[in-house]
Amino acid sequence: MTQDEQKRAVAREALRFVEPDAYIGVGSGSTANFFIDELAVIKHRLRGAVASSARTAERLKSHGIWIDELNNVDELPVYIDGADEVMESGAMIKGGGGALTREKIVAAVARKFVCIVDASKLVKKLGAFPLPVEVIPMARSYVARELVLLGGHPEWRMGFTTDNGNLILDVHGLNIVDPIAMEAQISQITGVVTVGLFARRGADVILIGAPEGIRTITPTRRK
Ligand code: A5P
Repeated sequence: MTQDEQKRAVAREALRFVEPDAYIGVGSGSTANFFIDELAVIKHRLRGAVASSARTAERLKSHGIWIDELNNVDELPVYIDGADEVMESGAMIKGGGGALTREKIVAAVARKFVCIVDASKLVKKLGAFPLPVEVIPMARSYVARELVLLGGHPEWRMGFTTDNGNLILDVHGLNIVDPIAMEAQISQITGVVTVGLFARRGADVILIGAPEGIRTITPTRRK
């Protein structure tokens, strides 16, 4: 099974979490794109979708899937999205595609976060993938200096602007021993909009596409 076949397989598997006549939260990235293509097949069963990025909104629309603003949606049973790295605890690094802020907002509203990944994304410790941090443009240098104090090596994602008009720092070399603590610590730096650590609200279900088939992990609930 190629990596794309693994992504497609977990995307298809994720359909069983879609609740009928309800809104579905939809993530961003290549795995989420496979999910959107699968979702199109059952679109008549949906009330609508909430998108976590402009690109996802475009793809949903191109399939004729009704999208609504999160502010108009009071109940979001499920959010389905990929990750750049995920631990069996459900803690993730996200934001490789730069959509971390809207992803974190939709994930916060959803009752259940279903993370869909190929086998290469499952890790014992987060941080080999550089941690994306969305920052207000005028705070870029200040936030970078603060991230250096935490042991990281921030790199400005040049030429990239988020859907919210902000910048991304990709932080290399962080020693993420406690993902929940580091998420809180980085979130508190003035000028940080969102850190791509999704640990306090991690995945409730992880579907992993592997050459031998799909593995499901249900992390125990965090306090
Ligand atoms: C987008 O901003 C990210 O959070 C994606 O969920 C993440 O980068 C995974 O993307 P792929 O499915 O393309 O690996």
